[in-house]
Amino acid sequence: MFRIAVLPGDGIGPEIVPEAVKVLRACSGLFGLDFTFTEAPVGGAAIELTGHPLPEETLALCRGSDAIILGAIGGPRWDHLPLERRPEAAALLPLRKELGLFANLRPVELYEALLDASPLKQEVIAGTDILVVRELTGGLYFGEKRREQIPGGERAIDTLVYTSSEIERIGRLAFEAARSRRKLLHSIDKANVLESSRLWREVMERLQKEYPDIELKHMYVDNAAMQLVNWPKQFDVIVTENMFGDILTDQASVLTGSIGMLASASIGGQVALYEPAHGSAPDIAARNEANPLATILSAGLMLRFSFNHEAAARAIEEAVARVLADGYRTRELMQPGCRELGTAEMGDRVVEALLKLKEGSL
Ligand code: IPM
Ligand code: MG
Repeated sequence: MFRIAVLPGDGIGPEIVPEAVKVLRACSGLFGLDFTFTEAPVGGAAIELTGHPLPEETLALCRGSDAIILGAIGGPRWDHLPLERRPEAAALLPLRKELGLFANLRPVELYEALLDASPLKQEVIAGTDILVVRELTGGLYFGEKRREQIPGGERAIDTLVYTSSEIERIGRLAFEAARSRRKLLHSIDKANVLESSRLWREVMERLQKEYPDIELKHMYVDNAAMQLVNWPKQFDVIVTENMFGDILTDQASVLTGSIGMLASASIGGQVALYEPAHGSAPDIAARNEANPLATILSAGLMLRFSFNHEAAARAIEEAVARVLADGYRTRELMQPGCRELGTAEMGDRVVEALLKLKEGSL
């Protein structure tokens, strides 16, 4: 039996997470997998209930589970709070840190049916298939932060810290990932300016000697941002530090249609966390408009990485591809000739497609 912690969170979280659960339940029937789901509050929702965005019970539930599915965290209602009580800084980041989730995998995959939803020309985007490996528990996000009064004003300080062992473990994971793909690894840094990037580059160079079958290329982050829109198919696996990874994956997600399609897996600890790469989108919350596919695809990654069930993971990806090929879209992806679906209806279609696929394969 697999125990899954369900953390809907804020904004559109409570709408998209049930759709992923729906799909996981369908998989349990189809593939004979036994799941239990236990829900817990996190983020702003947890502040309202308990006064803290990451209650002890929620963290304990996560630690005691086999995998976690999370919606999104944060919203304007809690933006005024000091950093130590803000949902993002006081729930999501500690959750990642406490669970030792140092690697965030974000697969940027192009669905055939979404070719013309990309802001890029078809010939530029066609064939794009990138895995971004983002370091998730170091760098600016976790370095010392402080404010100081200085004559005539204030000074704010964030520190960008990396140790060689932190770089090595994420580097190793990325080299391994490249090995099971097209054997090309781009390491993105800003070594022309930052000392942490110089160490990053040195460690990657050292590691490369252990992976002679993988081609390692270094690229400055500003150039990488340009190359991503100019010629995305030159990339296979990208490895980069926390903040660069945060920024580049938002950019990369839209290349393939919408950030509503970008799934993610945060791994490296005992229990892994699966969440869409997008935020809580408070502007469209409670309108049954949000795209649940990134969360559904994250559930697929859970089946692949946590439960080692490649067939079920593939089935979810194929079901999503079918639904899109049949012309169904959530609002942000609507195009002439397509049919608009709400969040829940999109989840239903994916389940339907799963059932059909499975029938077809019998
Ligand atoms: C992400 C998000 C988070 C991050 C925010 C909500 C703190 O943007 O997962 O990419 O910056 O890591
Ligand atoms: Mg982000």
